[in-house]
Amino acid sequence: MPSSIASQLKNPNLIQTKPFINGEFVDSTSKKTFQVINPATEQVIAELPEQTPEEIDEAIKITHEAFKTFRKTNPYDRSKMLRRLYELMIENLDDLATIITLENGKCLTDAKGEIRYGASYFEWFSEEAKRVYGDTIQPSNPNNKIITYKQPVGPVGLLCPFNFPSAMGARKAAPAWAVGCTCILKPDGQTPLSSLALAYLAKEAGFPPGVFNVVLASVESTPMVGTKVCESPLIKKVSFTGSTAVGKLLMKQSSSTLKKLSMELGGNAPVVVFDDADFDLAVDQAIASKFRSLGQTCVCANRLYVQSGIYDKFCQAFAEKVKTFKIGNGMEEGVTHGCLLNTRAIEKVEDHVKNAVDKGAQVLVEGGRLPELGKNFYAPTVLYNLPKDAKVFHEETFGPLAAIAKFSTKEEVLELCNDTHFGLASYIFSQNINTIWYMSEYLESGMVSVNTGIFTDAALPFGGIKESGFGREGSLYGIDDYTVVKSINLGNVYR
Ligand code: SIN
Repeated sequence: MPSSIASQLKNPNLIQTKPFINGEFVDSTSKKTFQVINPATEQVIAELPEQTPEEIDEAIKITHEAFKTFRKTNPYDRSKMLRRLYELMIENLDDLATIITLENGKCLTDAKGEIRYGASYFEWFSEEAKRVYGDTIQPSNPNNKIITYKQPVGPVGLLCPFNFPSAMGARKAAPAWAVGCTCILKPDGQTPLSSLALAYLAKEAGFPPGVFNVVLASVESTPMVGTKVCESPLIKKVSFTGSTAVGKLLMKQSSSTLKKLSMELGGNAPVVVFDDADFDLAVDQAIASKFRSLGQTCVCANRLYVQSGIYDKFCQAFAEKVKTFKIGNGMEEGVTHGCLLNTRAIEKVEDHVKNAVDKGAQVLVEGGRLPELGKNFYAPTVLYNLPKDAKVFHEETFGPLAAIAKFSTKEEVLELCNDTHFGLASYIFSQNINTIWYMSEYLESGMVSVNTGIFTDAALPFGGIKESGFGREGSLYGIDDYTVVKSINLGNVYR
């Protein structure tokens, strides 16, 4: 165990560096390892085994075996385990947040928010576990009755991203366990420690061996694990959060077994601010949406459209607030925004800035790299007078670039918003109920956030349309993705 990071925690057991299989942290037979690097300090914080293909096969088999008994457990018992896990996450909140900041680079306040957010899925689904309903239906034959109920889909594969190292695994595992599915989870190779900490707490919460298995692979070996999970006939569903390109590949791989899928893919969220918006609220909330985790969430504002009557005033106020950000090591007191995960993320931001400026956009806040802090630090850039064909309006930046364009009418802005293959989240700021309703109804996105920049919640059905994917996580609909409907026809009931 790397003592340097364990020594920063009240509960050093939360730092685990081995795969979690069948209820234990086990040694890998692999001689190869990969490193977990703190993106703020560029120091190696852990060295983990690069698991072999045979070990992944074995973990899949264990997930499959454990399903045979876990599916039969009492939902009230599963509810208690989920509730206990929620409590354990809250009890260990500071430590779990520290792990996120150390492996992901987001600031500690954001990391604490992520732990509360992830834990809330265990709380929510501890309650839903007891409320999985079916129907009774009268068929055409009056002597028969149809009964439906929802059964667990089977062992599931959870393929998780780096941007929410803890909450995305929680959001997927909570409904799976609520209905009696077992899971094999693969964390992103850059941020695996949060999933191992979750495994430690899941064991403490009483989840039986094999119900949760965490396999380890570097970024380079990730395709091997993805292929194994997607192609295995033993895995009945895959839930993936990540890019649209990878989502399409996983769909192809899953087609040989016709797996049930949930795909939470890329976004290109528009923020639309109308002249009649509550001005200060709109500025603050647009900033909150754009710069949450420094722009590294799928629902972050990717493009801002502000109506002509307030355009200049809005851009000025927005820029002034961005200049007050304190960028730094997320562990330091007073830091409002941490660093990006790696320099590839910065290169994408720079590419979008250059493209927009080359096409005539003007710079309101220059931003740029902060080498004095480290190679992964970037101060946010704010651009205005954006041309419609700028790359930033058509591709997800996933970083700290705010691009603000002007619009005149709601019809015009609606067309701009919908001119994309993506459809995850959209934001509207207005005080006119007709405008709000018109936009909410016709915006092509799975989620619309009105007058707030932060909207995700365990109670909200999270998911997209178009090439942002399908399936819903969280909420009462979250259960459906982990169940299949069984229909039973009772014949001759009046005989
Ligand atoms: C995501 O980036 O995929 C998740 C964002 C959220 O849940 O708020």
